[in-house]
Amino acid sequence: MNILITGAASGIGRGLALKLARPGVSLQLCDHAADGLAETARQCDERGARSVPKVLDTRDRQGMADWIATASGERLDMAFLCAGITGGLPPEANDGLVLEREERVWEMLDTNLTGTLNTFFPVVQAMRRQKRNGENLRGRICVMASIAGFVCYPGTPSYSASKVALDRFVVANAARLERFGISLTSVCCGFVDTPMVTQNRFPMPGLISTEDAVGRILRGTLRQTRRVIFPGWLVMGSRLMDLLPPRLAERYYVTQPSAQPAGMPDF
Ligand SMILES: NC(=O)c1ccc[n+]([C@@H]2O[C@H](COP(=O)([O-])OP(=O)(O)OC[C@H]3O[C@@H](n4cnc5c(N)ncnc54)[C@H](OP(=O)(O)O)[C@@H]3O)[C@@H](O)[C@H]2O)c1
Repeated sequence: MNILITGAASGIGRGLALKLARPGVSLQLCDHAADGLAETARQCDERGARSVPKVLDTRDRQGMADWIATASGERLDMAFLCAGITGGLPPEANDGLVLEREERVWEMLDTNLTGTLNTFFPVVQAMRRQKRNGENLRGRICVMASIAGFVCYPGTPSYSASKVALDRFVVANAARLERFGISLTSVCCGFVDTPMVTQNRFPMPGLISTEDAVGRILRGTLRQTRRVIFPGWLVMGSRLMDLLPPRLAERYYVTQPSAQPAGMPDF
């Protein structure tokens, strides 16, 4: 079994790698954070897996294509596209403007959307050359979107935008790719207790452990679930809020601690 994971130095990517690590499993692990990646690889090898770490920025399109062409080897069974960043609003400017920093918005879209697509396409190219397995599949691809993509959240506009784009891209392609033998799963989850959220300075409703999240993501991917969602009540609430006229929904959202300027690190 050969499995590729981006964002493997931390949080959900690392959690997936550790959960999947066992004898007979090769893990192609990518992250731009070298130390964290080496630590994930070490722990996976301790569990009997064969880890192959690659320090690489997913925004490097050619680098990702070259790496995946090699890392996919004779067969690539699964790919988990986890590399991503988040961020909130900076403090209010002197003239009263509150707006995400432009360079941070580009970084968010480049990382969360372009970086994921830089991974997705070479993975599909690798899988399309493979024969179908006993489950009639050439491979499985799981992409980390977010509940943030279900709402126009004023605390994280570019994060919400990047994640709704990912979710729509994945789910919209899922039927055709599945017919071809490639299963696609989009994960739209709420807060998961990883380093990504440790600096948040507000209560995180429904926060769940990385281990719990990893279990759900893995089960959903193996069952070929189109969209893995949790926690259900938060997804339902977000969906309902999104049905409201925007001016009504934003009356509630702008009062939330997480939507305040400097309520969340803007990095
Ligand atoms: N935690 C949550 O509550 C939550 C909820 C919904 C969805 N998600 C999504 O789940 C995914 C994993 O999140 P997480 O919570 O596990 O975050 P995390 O702990 O910060 O892990 C993400 C990893 O990706 C790396 N990374 C960022 N940009 C990269 C790039 N351009 N190239 C290569 N590696 C890069 C990060 O490095 P740095 O630390 O150096 O940036 C980090 O090691 C993300 O896509 C996130 O948006 C998370």
